[in-house]
Amino acid sequence: MASFIHYHIRFCLVIVFLFFLKSEAQVKKAKHAALVFPIRKDHRTKQYLTTLKVSSKENHVEVVINLSSQLTWFNCDIYNLPTYQPIECGSQKCKIAKAEGCSLFCDDCKNCNLPIPSKPGCTNNTCSVDSYNFFTNYLSDQGLGEDTFLVDSTDGLTISFNYKSPKPFQFSCANPIQLRKLPVGSVGMTGLANYTISLPRQMSTLFKLPHKFALCLPTKSDKTPGHMFIGGGPYMFPPYSKDIAKELIITPLVINPQSTAPLYAVGESSKEFFINVKSIVVDGKPVEFNSSLLSFDEEGAGGTKISSITPFTYLETSIFKALVNDFTKAAALREMKTVASVAPFGACFSSQTIAKGQTGPVVPLIDLTLPDNQRWRFYGGNSMVPLNKEVMCLAFVDAGYKPNPKTSIAIGGYQLENFLIEFDIDSTKLGISTSLLLMNTTCSQSRL
Ligand SMILES: *[C@@H]1O[C@H](CO)[C@@H](O)[C@H](O)[C@H]1NC(C)=O
Ligand SMILES: *[C@@H]1O[C@H](CO)[C@@H](O)[C@H](O)[C@H]1NC(C)=O
Ligand SMILES: *[C@@H]1O[C@H](CO)[C@@H](O)[C@H](O)[C@H]1NC(C)=O
Ligand SMILES: *[C@@H]1O[C@H](CO)[C@@H](O)[C@H](O)[C@H]1NC(C)=O
Ligand SMILES: *[C@@H]1O[C@H](CO)[C@@H](O)[C@H](O)[C@H]1NC(C)=O
Repeated sequence: MASFIHYHIRFCLVIVFLFFLKSEAQVKKAKHAALVFPIRKDHRTKQYLTTLKVSSKENHVEVVINLSSQLTWFNCDIYNLPTYQPIECGSQKCKIAKAEGCSLFCDDCKNCNLPIPSKPGCTNNTCSVDSYNFFTNYLSDQGLGEDTFLVDSTDGLTISFNYKSPKPFQFSCANPIQLRKLPVGSVGMTGLANYTISLPRQMSTLFKLPHKFALCLPTKSDKTPGHMFIGGGPYMFPPYSKDIAKELIITPLVINPQSTAPLYAVGESSKEFFINVKSIVVDGKPVEFNSSLLSFDEEGAGGTKISSITPFTYLETSIFKALVNDFTKAAALREMKTVASVAPFGACFSSQTIAKGQTGPVVPLIDLTLPDNQRWRFYGGNSMVPLNKEVMCLAFVDAGYKPNPKTSIAIGGYQLENFLIEFDIDSTKLGISTSLLLMNTTCSQSRL
């Protein structure tokens, strides 16, 4: 009997040991994979939001994602951040962040001198960085601080939750003016542009992951979120069974030698993401416009960028007019009935005259031609926006004449939805999937 029990205990120990080995292996594997963040769409402002977990896993900080900016900032006042630390002027961390400013932030804060530790964002002698908020047209000088972030890791399919960042993450506490007009439910913004302190570059550095991130924007503010991956693939989107990372078309990211930021140093290059669009083609026919708009001039004006904060792709006026004209002609050939156009759009159609297919409304195809005869193809799901049951419009808007806006084409959120777009920062390449709708899947997935 004794020996039976003994044997039994040993057997259990072996099982427990095997179990630990297995879960250990799983954790290790997850750690070496990528990070994943959920993305939701705010329907009213048409902005895309993500959730950051700051200081503790209970602090869910909803922020707008901005492909053009560098900083992560939010309203610190509504969270308990016991491990927050300000970054001092002249410190090594301040230099790495390329934040040259040094500010007294106490002016904006009540009772900032006491007690110790001071309230986040309210410290003297703090390393500062510039930040611009389009919603309020407000440029501010913001003090940098840092705290632990909790992140979720993924093998491309499943998620393991709440890993502590090995070192603190840098961000700043917003002042009240900055917070006005943010989309409902959001309390700040996170920058994804190519700066050392942007969310993807800091996270990749902290977790020793490749300097790559990918966006898969959802179409609706529904319960299942879209995804942002930091650190590379695989990217699995069931029921499609293959790794989408292996099926991307790859095009160079081109560096605009002139900054496009609201505030910059002389000679600074742009940190936004540009690609070399060579032409626009509608149902096989090139749209005619002055192609010099597609390259940068001496001031860095022109070219094509990717911009998640632009709700619908904007085009310089002459490109816009030519596209609307050619699209309307191609639509007529497909017997789509034109109706009065509704601002800000340039062409609208009767929905009854448009069939529905796997990739949305069946309408003329719009291709952006890229180097090496590659193309980025937009189907109806990305090119048409329904206004109501009867009317849908071409989902592109007029940006005005060059050089206002500076960039001729900004590929906006609506056109990015349900594509997986991978930004490879170090090798300066953009990977673009085909529309996930063609693979019978979407960016919105619930993952556990
Ligand atoms: C911050 O600077 C102001 C102005 O110099 C000063 O009055 C205040 O005491 C300083 N606060 C702290 C905490 O050092
Ligand atoms: C995104 O960042 C850029 C660069 O800082 C800024 O110009 C733009 O206004 C920001 N967008 C929003 C919606 O704040
Ligand atoms: C295209 O635009 C450039 C720059 O504005 C101008 O120099 C050129 O003459 C234009 N070409 C045509 C064919 O209009
Ligand atoms: C990002 O910046 C780094 C250095 O600051 C540079 O080497 C790299 O080419 C840039 N990548 C892109 C896509 O702009
Ligand atoms: C998607 O579904 C359509 C229709 O059900 C089918 O013809 C097609 O083969 C599917 N494509 C993929 C990639 O699964």
